[in-house]
Amino acid sequence: MKVGFLQFSPVFGDKNKNLATVEKLLRGVDADIIVLPELFSTGYTFLSKEEVTKLAEPGVQSETSNFILSLSKEKNCCFAYGFAEKDNQHLYDSMALISPDGLIGVYRKAHLFFEEKKFFQPGDTGFHIFEYKNVKLGMLICFDWIYPEAMRTLSIKGAQIILHPANLVTPYCPDAMITRALENRVFIILANRCGEEERNGKNNKFIGQSEVVSPQGKILVRVGQEECVKIVDIDPSLALNKKFNQYNDLLIDRREHLYFR
Ligand code: ACM
Repeated sequence: MKVGFLQFSPVFGDKNKNLATVEKLLRGVDADIIVLPELFSTGYTFLSKEEVTKLAEPGVQSETSNFILSLSKEKNCCFAYGFAEKDNQHLYDSMALISPDGLIGVYRKAHLFFEEKKFFQPGDTGFHIFEYKNVKLGMLICFDWIYPEAMRTLSIKGAQIILHPANLVTPYCPDAMITRALENRVFIILANRCGEEERNGKNNKFIGQSEVVSPQGKILVRVGQEECVKIVDIDPSLALNKKFNQYNDLLIDRREHLYFR
């Protein structure tokens, strides 16, 4: 299965430009699953809830989801991407998974980072498994990475590939993912953004370093700060084997009754 990420620097508030950049970067790219960054069509550095409300969209039949769906059909590829979600009065930092047949699922970020708490509701979807081409997929967004319970829940439920859009501003996640992949024996696709956003004295510098990590904790590809698309060939069935050696199965050997006492 060919999987990978698109890393770029969205322009705040300019959906048309961001969608056009994504379309251009994907020209000629052939893959089964591609992950785009968190909030890829809006940008990240919101100043008020009103601003989020103006740019946020429903999960289906919106400008961003329609764009991704047509791209998905054109390329026969499944896309995971982060977007600002408006659901009635509520605003979520969400991601959607869209195949050529339509929406597969939406995940709402459970663990909000820093000032996101001023603008978004904490996600209420929980951690569920979605399937594409008979491969089990789990979704996490950015700061969810620092709560091992999130990915553990997905791996216990059978996830083979973790789709992880991000807007990382601290340096820890790309290396931490080596351990997350190893302890859960899953593939991880981290799609971070790059570039810098300066708004009203607020300045966010994003670290890039999008990557694909194997269940053995091997970095299959990791990039720097550049705008790019990277695709690697993986065998998702490798994530079904949780054996560390002939005596240790990483999930079966958990001593659940000893935890959280
Ligand atoms: C983050 O969760 N966007 C750092």
